[in-house]
Amino acid sequence: MAEKRLPIGVFDSGLGGLSAVREIRKAAPDEDIIYFGDTARVPYGSRSPETIIKYACDDADFLLGRGVRALVVACGTVSSVALDLLSSRCPVPVIGVVDGAAKAAVGATKNGIIGVIGTTVTVNNGSLEKKTREYASAEGKDIKTVSRACQLFVALVENGFIGRGNAITEMAVRDYLKPIKESGADTLILGCTHFPIIADIISDFLPGVTLINPSEEAVKELYAKTEAYKGGGTTEYFVSDAPANFDMLAEIFLGKKINASVAEIK
Ligand code: DGL
Repeated sequence: MAEKRLPIGVFDSGLGGLSAVREIRKAAPDEDIIYFGDTARVPYGSRSPETIIKYACDDADFLLGRGVRALVVACGTVSSVALDLLSSRCPVPVIGVVDGAAKAAVGATKNGIIGVIGTTVTVNNGSLEKKTREYASAEGKDIKTVSRACQLFVALVENGFIGRGNAITEMAVRDYLKPIKESGADTLILGCTHFPIIADIISDFLPGVTLINPSEEAVKELYAKTEAYKGGGTTEYFVSDAPANFDMLAEIFLGKKINASVAEIK
């Protein structure tokens, strides 16, 4: 009998990475997925690189311990800080959200000006900008990047301040993204799990700008590295703490209610 193929492991600092689960489902409806959200220690985006590396290794070890055939690091912060380390210590392919997004942005820009937004750590770390420059130089393209840390967007999304017409988020977007608008960027990398959720508000402020969703690009990279598998289409959810607004957050990121049990691990 053929050996059962192992599931895809996906982790994030919290529940934002469920947006990557949603993208995997679109690409491979029958895939088996195990998700881990480190909800007890979220947010990672304002912590030190040393702490993020430690948490990332714990998260990866949890999923590897359950048996996965590839790991998707859905978190922009972890992907920026710890991807090389995770790749070197994991026995399975590790896919982050930096590489694919950088490549897609270089492919999309016409005027060579690319905006990058992420958490404070992601922007300070500069991995997205560095990768973007690397892809541009490989393609002989002259590009400029303009970055802005938008940590507040994480809290806005987590508190449900989403959707067109939300005055608080519209105001925050106008303020935070003013430098991106003024730079004339024609492409913007949404370098954090939470930002695609407010893509419509961002788009309204930056009309005509191509928004890059890193989860979508990571899923393309995933299936370039491992074949899609027709399993049972199951998703197992694990969290390190069940937050009070868990159901609302899960629905925001997954686009539907979680209709399976969620195990809390200590
Ligand atoms: N998941 C994180 C990211 O994509 C955002 C939330 C956090 O700061 O942990 O960077």
